[in-house]
Amino acid sequence: MIYLDANATTPLLPEVLDVMLPWLREGFHNPNASYRGAKAARLAIEEARGQVAALIGAEPDEIVFTGGGTESTNAALKWLARLVGRKSGKVITSAIEHSAVLKPVDTFEEVGYAVTRAGVDAGGRLKLDEFEAGCEAAKEGGGFASLMWVNNETGVIQPIEEACAIAKENGLAFHTDAIQAVGKIAVDVREVPVDFLSLSAHKFHGPKGVGALYIRSGCRFEPLLRGGGQEKDRRSGTENTAGIVGLGKAAELAATRLAAGENPRALRGAFEAKIVETVQGVTVNGDLLHRLPGTSHLSFTGCEAAGLLILLDDLGIACSAGSACMTGKQKPSHVQKAMGFTDAKAKSSLRFGFSCLNTMDEALAAATAVAKAVEKLRRVQGGSTGPVVVYSP
Ligand SMILES: Cc1ncc(COP(=O)(O)O)c(C=O)c1O
Repeated sequence: MIYLDANATTPLLPEVLDVMLPWLREGFHNPNASYRGAKAARLAIEEARGQVAALIGAEPDEIVFTGGGTESTNAALKWLARLVGRKSGKVITSAIEHSAVLKPVDTFEEVGYAVTRAGVDAGGRLKLDEFEAGCEAAKEGGGFASLMWVNNETGVIQPIEEACAIAKENGLAFHTDAIQAVGKIAVDVREVPVDFLSLSAHKFHGPKGVGALYIRSGCRFEPLLRGGGQEKDRRSGTENTAGIVGLGKAAELAATRLAAGENPRALRGAFEAKIVETVQGVTVNGDLLHRLPGTSHLSFTGCEAAGLLILLDDLGIACSAGSACMTGKQKPSHVQKAMGFTDAKAKSSLRFGFSCLNTMDEALAAATAVAKAVEKLRRVQGGSTGPVVVYSP
């Protein structure tokens, strides 16, 4: 199986598993206890905090470990909503957020917050003027802004620096869902002065169910989860030592890759070039100048993604239609709608996600498989559904 769904999740790196295992065996102690095994766990957690902080240019004390990306976004957004209050509170976000942001924002709207969901252009990049208008309207009465750093479906990198500056000019707190960005491209909170940032280990070869919330030093914060007061009372619950240690190691390895300029851009490039060369009626979607190095979002005229997914699965390729959350559902995603896709185009789109574990042989074999699947589907569907495929296996 050639795994090309790195935006959904990434495989654990062996080095990450190796550092986790001792904390699931002999290092099982509750890190809050007094004996030496517990102290060792506490130290390991602090080392991981430093590793995660280093990856995003933060101070260790600004990192709070959570149970994953969704918890991080919910903790930040629910706190900010409480802080600004619903009477005159305004929320400015985008139309293409992940449901981990969209759903909490929907609930804020239901209870009285005024919400601006700024649109995107055809390439899937935020319309800054709409975002700015929302922020300006929130200047009086207060509010907060939340924008994803990178979109999970298209891999399009958002104008985060500009959006953060606009929010700040209007006196608004700013959260970013950087779950698809951290570990894949440079993210530095010294350069983009966000107040809150969410990240998730499993998107960069760490374990699932563990993430972090960055909280800029000096920002007020009250926790989503209350209880035993762990994480300096910012996130209660006995720490997931193995998961946190795995997140730390994954962060350290990602920082090394980023510093060395290692990324899957060449694989994605070869994959797309071969497909464009061999398949007719294919569109490469998303702003080509602002894409994650490993994401390829393609539409195949006249081919239903659902059918392509089955054929590709048979051919040993794991990829997805639209976002991971939309897989299996036949309606266009909110991201595709916001980008102005027709229903037909939306239904004929696939997302491929390369990671540092893929090889050039895999990229080329996957392109061959895609061409084969498209050709087969068009043949089965009949000539009226799309252009002729020039590739022959
Ligand atoms: C942009 C974005 N935000 C949030 C999430 C949720 O993160 P997690 O799976 O760690 O809860 C994801 C994961 O698919 C994502 O891609």
